[in-house]
Amino acid sequence: MSRLIQARLSLSKLHTLATSRSSRLLSTGPIGADGGSKVEEAETVSVPPPPSEKLLVFGGNGFVGSHICKEALERGLTVASISRSGRSSVNEAWADRVNWHKGNLFSPETFKDALDGVTSVISCVGGFGSNANMYKINGTANMNAIRAAAEKGVKRFVYISAADFGVVNYLLQGYYEGKRAAETELLTNFPYGGVILRPGFIYGTRQVGSMKLPLGVIGSPLEMVLQHAKPLTQVPLVGPLLTPPVNVTAVAKVAIRAATDPVFPPGIVDVHGILRYSGQKKK
Ligand SMILES: NC(=O)c1ccc[n+]([C@@H]2O[C@H](COP(=O)([O-])OP(=O)(O)OC[C@H]3O[C@@H](n4cnc5c(N)ncnc54)[C@H](OP(=O)(O)O)[C@@H]3O)[C@@H](O)[C@H]2O)c1
Repeated sequence: MSRLIQARLSLSKLHTLATSRSSRLLSTGPIGADGGSKVEEAETVSVPPPPSEKLLVFGGNGFVGSHICKEALERGLTVASISRSGRSSVNEAWADRVNWHKGNLFSPETFKDALDGVTSVISCVGGFGSNANMYKINGTANMNAIRAAAEKGVKRFVYISAADFGVVNYLLQGYYEGKRAAETELLTNFPYGGVILRPGFIYGTRQVGSMKLPLGVIGSPLEMVLQHAKPLTQVPLVGPLLTPPVNVTAVAKVAIRAATDPVFPPGIVDVHGILRYSGQKKK
């Protein structure tokens, strides 16, 4: 009960964040560090979701999306995915249990029907390119998804965003502006069930065609060192470059928990919050 009250109390702050695009929203720090509730400090009990839970993953055939689909099936959820190419190239048994749909987030009529009966959504759609394209794929595409999900009465929506990277933000302006625009849209449309995950570099095994790339070789040792360097990340410009990488399985677990746990607090979860929620880091 106290967790519910705590979550409610933080809502007015979240709404202000959603509408003002303030510097707090652009920060990688946890919401409420200046006085409000700390998102990552609220503890929730991990219980299996009811069988009626239906999860739709936008970008379920991508690197992060495929790990989310696999984890969600293991948790007993009914799982569907939307992407332009449809079925994943992963040749494993779990992939046969996902309902793969083809759809393009720039054309809402291609995915609206797939939202029927869906209780929660996780969007892993994003990418790189020219500044204009990065804004469109990280921002506009996800804003379309968020609006369509809200219209269909979806209860919870989790967006895989990205941590600020200091000077890198200037080089990837369209990427970060798109991410932050989608975040604002999410908190406006889902003030009670919108969760934003802001990982830095995500490592794990990435499927590229029939090949598996073990990105953990770089990410895992860096994560061990940098997760203890949180104070250094506050250093202007270069500090954010020290954001610890995070394992793709940890991101998947926290995303699913945020999408299915009705008392998971809405708002932004930074990389340290992701590590804590996934149990990889103690308080
Ligand atoms: N990987 C990292 O280190 C990292 C770090 C921080 C944040 N993130 C964020 O996490 C998210 C997932 O990253 P990722 O590495 O898993 O990316 P990814 O492997 O490139 O996956 C992107 C997914 O989006 C789908 N997609 C792209 N355009 C689409 C469209 N117009 N309509 C529908 N689906 C579309 C792609 O499938 P199709 O091509 O078949 O459409 C693919 O499934 C992204 O938002 C990314 O910015 C990633």
